[in-house]
Amino acid sequence: MTTADDVRIRTVSGLDPAQDDLFRAWAAVFEASNQHALGDEHSSWGVEELRELERSTERRRLGWAAMAGDVVAGAVAVTFPQHDNLTVAEIGLAVHPDHRRRGLGSRLLEVAEEVARDEGRSVFVAETEWLADSRDVGGEEFASRQGYAAAQTVLRSALALPADRDRLEALLAAPGADGYTTRTFSGGIPEDLLDGRAELSRRMSTDIPLGELQLEEEVWDAARVRGTYDRIAAMNRRVVDTFAVEEATGRLVGFTQVQVGEPADLGYQQDTLVMREHRGHALGLRLKAANALALMAELPDVTRIRTWNAEDNRHMLAVNRELGYAPDAWLREWQKVMP
Ligand SMILES: CC(C)(COP(=O)(O)OP(=O)(O)OC[C@H]1O[C@@H](n2cnc3c(N)ncnc32)[C@H](O)[C@@H]1OP(=O)(O)O)[C@@H](O)C(=O)NCCC(=O)NCCS
Repeated sequence: MTTADDVRIRTVSGLDPAQDDLFRAWAAVFEASNQHALGDEHSSWGVEELRELERSTERRRLGWAAMAGDVVAGAVAVTFPQHDNLTVAEIGLAVHPDHRRRGLGSRLLEVAEEVARDEGRSVFVAETEWLADSRDVGGEEFASRQGYAAAQTVLRSALALPADRDRLEALLAAPGADGYTTRTFSGGIPEDLLDGRAELSRRMSTDIPLGELQLEEEVWDAARVRGTYDRIAAMNRRVVDTFAVEEATGRLVGFTQVQVGEPADLGYQQDTLVMREHRGHALGLRLKAANALALMAELPDVTRIRTWNAEDNRHMLAVNRELGYAPDAWLREWQKVMP
């Protein structure tokens, strides 16, 4: 039986062609672990998506594998934001279900935290996930034993598609949003909206519930927005965006985005925001209704949209309930703050 003393820890990079098999085996550990927790409806990144995340200049990303002989038994990725939140390190850790309770998770976490400290990071963030009707004994026990505290609990829900078109259209046409319109784009946004989108992303980092997470306001400009769209395209993901526009000023005051990669029948809801001063006009509901209609028209193979919302985000959860989203899993953010 493999123990932590038998395993060898080695770096893994998806950008080194000589490590391709190793990288794929490393990615497969994340997938097997997530599948163990969530079944077929797991939320793992694809191999090529992980490679693209590593290539991104948005966040520096490093990986290690715990090798039991030739087999990758555990995997960890550490991500360092580069534009803001320069004290934060995000740690993604998974041990293959066949190799648990032998100290591999502890070894890999030790490596990740040491590198994060050397990088000058002092706020470590990690996630655990479990199905709605189950419990996550392993992740919770492990995280708390390692000195992590629960910082935010997040509900995962899904909307089955195609949804009722007439109902979505009625929601869009309902009175109450005088002075605002919605605009929808597929496959990227026009250059003249990049600044407005940058401001929305900045506000996204401050105008949403953050629980106990020690995250700072993010720094955004048009170039950074352009970079994120380039990365979405490089991941072979299709993207549909809807914006809320204040008619009097032409300003973008809200947005929502869905991305579709592999599998091609699953849409991932990304950020949704209505700026604080523009709330109360049912813009959240309209944004998501308009985006769902566009997605149904343009990517008819998508059978569900998956979303995550902080459990205390009452307004977003109410919007999702009204649209027909049904909860199916939980995610918890864990945080360890170094002195
Ligand atoms: C959490 C995870 C990484 C632990 O990996 P591991 O190799 O089994 O961890 P270790 O063997 O180093 O466990 C260290 C301690 O954590 C606690 N622990 C781990 N799994 C546990 C379980 N299923 N039940 C109770 N305690 C558990 C125990 O105290 C254990 O020490 P012990 O075995 O001496 O009792 C693994 O279960 C996993 O990949 N889970 C899914 C992804 C995830 O939750 N990642 C963690 C993010 S913080």
